[in-house]
Amino acid sequence: MTRYDVVVIGAGAAGMMCAVEAGRQGRKVLVIEHGEKPGEKIRISGGGRCNFTNLHANDGLGTPQGAYLSQNPRFPISALKRYRPADFIAKIERHGIAWHDKAQGQLFCDGPATQIVDMLGREMFEAGVKLMLSTTARDIERDGDGFRLVAHNARAGDAIIACSSLVVATGGKSIPKMGASAFAYDVARKFSVPVVETRPALVPLTFEPGFLEETRALAGVSLEGRVSCGKRSFTEAVLFTHRGLSGPAILQISSYWREGEAITLDMAPGVDTFEILRAARGQTPKQAPQTILATFLPKSLAQAITTRLKADAALGTLSDKRLREIATAVNAWTVKPVGSEGYRTAEVTLGGVDTRALDGKTMEVKAVPGLYFIGEAVDVTGWLGGYNFQWAWASGVAAGVGQ
Ligand code: FDA
Repeated sequence: MTRYDVVVIGAGAAGMMCAVEAGRQGRKVLVIEHGEKPGEKIRISGGGRCNFTNLHANDGLGTPQGAYLSQNPRFPISALKRYRPADFIAKIERHGIAWHDKAQGQLFCDGPATQIVDMLGREMFEAGVKLMLSTTARDIERDGDGFRLVAHNARAGDAIIACSSLVVATGGKSIPKMGASAFAYDVARKFSVPVVETRPALVPLTFEPGFLEETRALAGVSLEGRVSCGKRSFTEAVLFTHRGLSGPAILQISSYWREGEAITLDMAPGVDTFEILRAARGQTPKQAPQTILATFLPKSLAQAITTRLKADAALGTLSDKRLREIATAVNAWTVKPVGSEGYRTAEVTLGGVDTRALDGKTMEVKAVPGLYFIGEAVDVTGWLGGYNFQWAWASGVAAGVGQ
């Protein structure tokens, strides 16, 4: 049996960050990762450039305006305030990694995202952390004040490992083909830690066949739209797809949408379509409404809207009521998704280990000293735009420095 001070399960963003900090405290640290390589989600993130943080991560923390969803919205405040975007920027700059602010405080690497994986790998090595790849953690048991588990490696066989602290950093259920598993929730349940129901988030929404029929010709069309669900709205790109709607605005709203609810799409935010059509009817009554719509919407979308409403006659023949119908279809198109594309494409998992069971400063389970949950496994989910990595770094550091 080999004994470690700290065993971290999962070599993703949160797990590696935690391991570095724990190693720097002089602890003997082992990271167990069932994939062949560490940090696979970092590698593919941000279109291969890793949107590693967001400068606005701490804006409105704990309030409905904040960028993090949780049953307990105040929970992430402590970790996020103690490890800020500036701290991660300073870290990557020490490693000579160049970055840029794309928009809205979203920071990306100039080069490949693997630079971040390599950086964390180097820091783990320098901190004396041992990394076991292609290894699965099994049979976790309480062992005195610590834990005991089996590390199963197909080639090397089983090793029995004992540790004082066990950090579960196995992420959520999104993208199972990249190694995502429900492991964290299983461990939580084993130790009677409650789990908030999980669902795919930051995910494209799907629609019933009638909608798809109407929008088939629009697949690939994108525009800047304002998407609302209840009181929440996002103004970002919207993309029509063969299955429904995608693009950043839709991914964002998917975290708030629930089955049975409608979403409202303003496809020309800030444009008063009714007034524009009414003015055009006075000046050029022979023009078709789609010609006017096409001055501020993609042409195929303008055509699809007037076809759907059977409103392609000359403007001069259309009543105010008809113009209002067209305007509503542009500025307040209300549609009901039937579902989402699910964990197959979801960027994150909403819900997870219930934060009420955790200490927000250290991420330790209050009722099970020595057991920690960090990163996406926890019921803290950020908006699109670098917020989720910031949570992974911050929660990883919170658990690591206290070891
Ligand atoms: P993460 O999932 O990264 O790591 C968990 C690790 O545990 C994995 O390596 C997994 O193999 C391992 N594991 C799982 N079960 C195990 C088991 N039983 N035994 C051993 N190991 C196990 N966020 C953001 O802020 N900016 C961005 O640009 C993007 N882009 C992006 C793109 C795509 C396509 C996806 C799917 C997601 C993003 N995200 C993102 C979200 C971001 O990737 C996510 O929030 C973090 O990776 C979460 O970090 P964790 O370390 O918690 O889990």
